[in-house]
Amino acid sequence: MENRNLAILLSGRGSNFVAIQEAIQRGDLNARIGCVISNVAGAAGLARARDFGLIAVCLPSAGVERAEYDGMLVNTLRSYDPALICLAGFMRIISPVLLNAFPNRILNIHPALLPSFPGLHAQRQALQHGVKVSGCTVHIADEGVDTGPILLQRAVEVLDGDTEETLSARILEQEHQIYWRAIALMLDRINSGSK
Ligand code: GRF
Repeated sequence: MENRNLAILLSGRGSNFVAIQEAIQRGDLNARIGCVISNVAGAAGLARARDFGLIAVCLPSAGVERAEYDGMLVNTLRSYDPALICLAGFMRIISPVLLNAFPNRILNIHPALLPSFPGLHAQRQALQHGVKVSGCTVHIADEGVDTGPILLQRAVEVLDGDTEETLSARILEQEHQIYWRAIALMLDRINSGSK
């Protein structure tokens, strides 16, 4: 049996999650979102998930030690049997507890052309370095911060006069184009041979 279940982890506005859900609704991505989990109760992405009629779960992380929190995440995620776990603006570093429970099944999106500019404020870092091209990356998560095998990237030109906001907005448009395509690649890879 094919497994095309996705779990989404987010902490904020959730525009990447929405782009994935819209690709599913258009029929561009053959998948289903089994659950959307946030570590932040007020995350706009959780409200969007409920608007779509999806299962939206809040698992607050404040004050919970990393390994313990990831253990709670693993227990919750297992009940939805995800083929892939998609980090979509999930503002926590994940521990081996989560990585080892779902090896090579956790994807992340980052607003830079990795391995350049990992970590926070990638777009600001790009502007500070004066690069002429930045972009976005979808990769398989590993124990590093924004490291792991790269699946897809899109380049975005840095324009004269760009601010962090204008550059971020153009990169975000491309993020919304590549995340669902990378998910499709991975789901085909995972499910090949299981038909
Ligand atoms: C995106 O820029 C993503 O690359 C980064 O966090 C941001 C999340 O945005 N990891 P959204 O919540 O998907 O709108």
